[in-house]
Formats: sequence, C-alpha cells, structure tokens
Amino acid sequence: MEILSNHWVLIALRLAHIGGGILWAGSAILFLFLLIPTVRAVQDAGQKFMENFGPRFGKMMSIVTTVTIVAGALLYARFFASGFEWIWTTKSGLAFTIGALAGIISYVLGSAYLGKLQARVGALGAAMAATNPPKPEQIGQMNQLQSTLMNVYRFDFVLLVIAIVTMAIARYL
Ligand code: HEM
Repeated sequence: MEILSNHWVLIALRLAHIGGGILWAGSAILFLFLLIPTVRAVQDAGQKFMENFGPRFGKMMSIVTTVTIVAGALLYARFFASGFEWIWTTKSGLAFTIGALAGIISYVLGSAYLGKLQARVGALGAAMAATNPPKPEQIGQMNQLQSTLMNVYRFDFVLLVIAIVTMAIARYL
C-alpha cells in the first residue's frame, strides 16, 4: 500500500496510535489503581457514581482503543512490504508483534467480555438496591462477579504493560 509510506500519513497514524495508546494505558491505570478502590471505599455513593461514569467511560474507551488498534495495524501493515520474515528474523519485528498481539487481546477482552461483565454487576447492584436489604445469595453473586471483574482488569493490565514495554523498546533492539 503506497499511501502508507507517505510522510504525512505516517505522522497522522503515529499521532493517532501513540496518542491513543497514552490515553488507553493512562485511563486503565487510573481506573484500576485509583477509581475502583475509591468506588469501593465510598460504597453506595460509589455505586451511584459508577452508574453514571461507567457508560461514559465505556464509550470513550471504545473510541480510544479502536483508533489505537486501527492506526497500529496500518503502521504494522507497512512493514510487510518486504515480506513476513522480519517478524521472526529481527528482534524489532518480534517485539512489535508480541506488543501488537497483547494490544489486540486486550482490545478483544475489553469489547467482547468486560462490558458485559460490568453490565451484569450494574444490573445486580440495581436489583440489590431495589430489594434492600439485599438477599444473601445476591451478596454472594456480587462478590463472585466483582472478584472475576478484578481478575480480568488485572490480566488486562498485564497485557497493556506488555504492549507498552515492547512497543517502546522494539526499534532499539
Ligand atoms: C495498548 C496497545 C498499544 C500501545 C500502548 C502502543 C504503543 C505504541 C508506542 C508508544 C509506539 C511508539 C514506538 C516507537 O515509535 O518507537 C508504538 C509504535 C508502533 N505500534 Fe503500537 N501500541 C499498541 C498497540 C499496537 C497494535 C495492536 C499494533 C498492531 C496491530 C501496533 C503496532 C505498532 C507499530 C507497527 C509501531 C511502529 C510505528 C512506526 O514505526 O512508525 N501497536 N506503539
């Protein structure tokens, strides 16, 4: 694809990709290490906050992650001009590929699984508030869902760290 070698197209793609990557990783860190503990600490107020914040955050993240992945895939595609061997014959190729895979898995996990899990937590939270006081089985279910959600967030965070580290050092290997 000739257009991918155009200087200005490359600059635009790099701005979109690296800008998106910064927003993606920064938001994930803020969410996991600051927002979730705060929401848990303030309990009912936290539940209310998440009902409002969750859908806004979800929409923003779906745009940011899609832009990052699409721009990254186009930047990656231009390396194929001289064949596929660079992936396993150069350390840079291997590092960019590992980073790309980690980013894509994180994207699929976020769009296909995390949203549904968060929606289930939200629906159960609303049902518990309506039942007030919540039934013991609802509390058990909520604890289980939240622990699964936290494990997925942690796994996703590891994928993001892999993507950031490999992408940042790839061209210097
Ligand atoms: C969380 C996801 C990602 C983050 C945080 C991220 C971050 C970065 C950063 C910071 C760079 C700049 C490195 C440099 O120029 O030395 C970069 C470059 C690059 N990324 Fe990613 N990236 C992610 C996902 C992806 C994905 C999914 C792909 C491919 C499908 C990809 C392909 C590339 C390529 C090919 C470059 C080199 C661009 C160039 O040579 O101009 N990235 N990425």
